[in-house]
Amino acid sequence: MKHLILGVLAGAVLCSGTSFAGETAVAQGKKILVVYYSKTGTTERVSRDVASALNADLERVVDRKNRNGFFAFFSSGKDAMGKKQTSIEPLPRDPASYDLVVVGTPVWAGNITPAIRTFLMMNKDKLPDVAYIITAAHTPAEKIIPACIDITGKKPVAYLGLVKKELKDNKVYRWKLSSFIDALK
Ligand SMILES: Cc1cc2nc3c(=O)[nH]c(=O)nc-3n(C[C@H](O)[C@H](O)[C@H](O)COP(=O)(O)O)c2cc1C
Repeated sequence: MKHLILGVLAGAVLCSGTSFAGETAVAQGKKILVVYYSKTGTTERVSRDVASALNADLERVVDRKNRNGFFAFFSSGKDAMGKKQTSIEPLPRDPASYDLVVVGTPVWAGNITPAIRTFLMMNKDKLPDVAYIITAAHTPAEKIIPACIDITGKKPVAYLGLVKKELKDNKVYRWKLSSFIDALK
């Protein structure tokens, strides 16, 4: 009976939240960096899950411009729509020393964020393979990816687009996440 209970517990742990897909890219010997910008934590959560599943390094892009408050919401949307760059903190890790860089951004006013635009512009000539995480209230990633290709001149190896309702549905979220991880193997 004791063994049965232990077995069931072990199975539950293995099938639970964070154990999906993991280790794959590491098993393939790829060095992966996940770089993201997140204002309210959504893209950060997804980026952390991706980095953890791939055993990748994780870097947050910090926008030096104040993006908080009522007026900043509108100026941020305007900056994104105007395809503006911004001032970002230097990243300690060099994207060129990786095999794959996964870039995470929220959608602002139907565009990538100024912080990620700046990161892509600064690194476009030395990016290795690239993949994207795009989170949004409702805008599909398909509308955002062409701008990323325009900036970098690189077709992504894969992308993960998640809108609000998918982010709220744990089953859909896990399924999309694990398909993305599989595509990066
Ligand atoms: C300034 C601003 C503009 C936004 N514009 C859009 C938009 O055009 N389309 C959309 O689907 N979501 C839009 N959103 C919602 C965010 O993309 C969405 O909530 C995202 O998941 C937030 O990511 P974060 O928590 O990592 O900051 C906008 C949010 C902000 C703050």
